[in-house]
Amino acid sequence: MSKGPKAIMLIIRPPCLFAPSPLLRILLLLPLLLIISITITTPVSANHGFFSLKYKFAGQKRSLAALKAHDNSRQLRILAGVDLPLGGTGRPEAVGLYYAKIGIGTPARDYYVQVDTGSDIMWVNCIQCNECPKKSSLGMELTLYDIKESLTGKLVSCDQDFCYAINGGPPSYCIANMSCSYTEIYADGSSSFGYFVRDIVQYDQVSGDLETTSANGSVIFGCSATQSGDLSSEEALDGILGFGKSNTSMISQLASSGKVRKMFAHCLDGLNGGGIFAIGHIVQPKVNTTPLVPNQTHYNVNMKAVEVGGYFLNLPTDVFDVGDKKGTIIDSGTTLAYLPEVVYDQLLSKIFSWQSDLKVHTIHDQFTCFQYSESLDDGFPAVTFHFENSLYLKVHPHEYLFSYDGLWCIGWQNSGMQSRDRRNITLLGDLALSNKLVLYDLENQVIGWTEYNCSSSIKVVDEQSGTVHLVGSHYISSACSLSTRSAIIMLLLTTMLYTLVY
Ligand SMILES: *[C@@H]1O[C@H](CO)[C@@H](O)[C@H](O)[C@H]1NC(C)=O
Ligand SMILES: *[C@@H]1O[C@H](CO)[C@@H](O)[C@H](O)[C@H]1NC(C)=O
Ligand SMILES: *[C@@H]1O[C@H](CO)[C@@H](O)[C@H](O)[C@H]1NC(C)=O
Repeated sequence: MSKGPKAIMLIIRPPCLFAPSPLLRILLLLPLLLIISITITTPVSANHGFFSLKYKFAGQKRSLAALKAHDNSRQLRILAGVDLPLGGTGRPEAVGLYYAKIGIGTPARDYYVQVDTGSDIMWVNCIQCNECPKKSSLGMELTLYDIKESLTGKLVSCDQDFCYAINGGPPSYCIANMSCSYTEIYADGSSSFGYFVRDIVQYDQVSGDLETTSANGSVIFGCSATQSGDLSSEEALDGILGFGKSNTSMISQLASSGKVRKMFAHCLDGLNGGGIFAIGHIVQPKVNTTPLVPNQTHYNVNMKAVEVGGYFLNLPTDVFDVGDKKGTIIDSGTTLAYLPEVVYDQLLSKIFSWQSDLKVHTIHDQFTCFQYSESLDDGFPAVTFHFENSLYLKVHPHEYLFSYDGLWCIGWQNSGMQSRDRRNITLLGDLALSNKLVLYDLENQVIGWTEYNCSSSIKVVDEQSGTVHLVGSHYISSACSLSTRSAIIMLLLTTMLYTLVY
């Protein structure tokens, strides 16, 4: 267990706010292109029959744009919804991440992927990946995707629309039939490089109350050929399922082929782990919503005020805008919550004004901790964030405090101490999002939430029949959870890594 540290780097993995410079991108791509030309082109000649079939399909250019045009011209059969079984927990003391299980390929094999609303593509580790983990201390069996083992897997070439969309135009390296490569660099310095493939993804479609049937859709996702950072750690998963809002995400692809509505919701159970993750039109519980800030890469919303135990902090009006980054980022892929220094300072001083005789320790220069043995919710104030359109988000003391070595530590983090791209951003992760039903409605460009029991169930409507079905919570069990101490060490390692990277 003591070697556990690395996986939790995922826990405070902020969304991919770090865009690599063009030079770095090229440097990073060089080894990858080599790998691709070795691993992809070699089998093409070695196994001609098999791959010529794939290129024939690739040549048909069944791109998203084509699928969309095709779907617009026919009667769409919008289906009820998708129930994505969740595992893990967002608590810093435990695993620190949420993951889902999906099936990929024909015949389908199971993959465990971290659910992340802070990034846009889905990727899984591929057979070419030498440094990818083979087993995970989270208890599940890891699987490397092998395009040759799947009857339905096809390479995506660099001259397809999807590749243009990812690169904002034709990629500079593109010559005939080369595969479309990707580079995902996360803010904690971890990264995944690979190439895109298209294959059948199997998921559980809601078919009745707490009942699902298997359904499938053709989706383009990344095949990770090389990776670094905490992604290769002991508590590894097979990949990441990005639920970002760009049209390259899995939900956008399924929506453009008419399989699902462009709406989803999560209810992350901060008490028991796991929870609910559903794609579709959620009708119960009802939530109030706030508009998404237009032209932002992430799910950003406008925060108007911060209230601590009934007292409103006195904040400058532009405190939530940093250059062209506007508003507050909502990100299930981050564990804690990050606030600009002026907000953080006032917030902490207000929280501590409730307990003037606490002896506060700073652990490893980073976490503010103290000893306290009474009821947290009686002894400390709730923190309420107010958003445009009268939506508010309340975080209770037992949610923003986590235990460490007999102490309680504050989960709020000062983003004024973060470097570069993330300095002074406002980001709410699992700490603030747990125990709430959070609804992302991309059709209407709004997001909303309400306090909810994530061990219960929600209702999703079948658009065609009008029937409403219950979707319940899940917990994909994992073999172990991390000790608090190793979790803290991980947080520290992550911070060190940030400092090195920026
Ligand atoms: C994604 O959207 C952009 C603009 O909104 C469009 O140019 C692009 O073709 C779309 N990509 C795909 C793969 O549909
Ligand atoms: C995908 O679903 C269709 C029905 O929609 C089914 O006929 C087909 O066998 C499924 N394919 C796989 C690979 O499961
Ligand atoms: C949450 O829902 C579950 C399942 O319905 C129930 O067993 C549990 O008591 C509920 N918890 C609370 C706090 O209401």
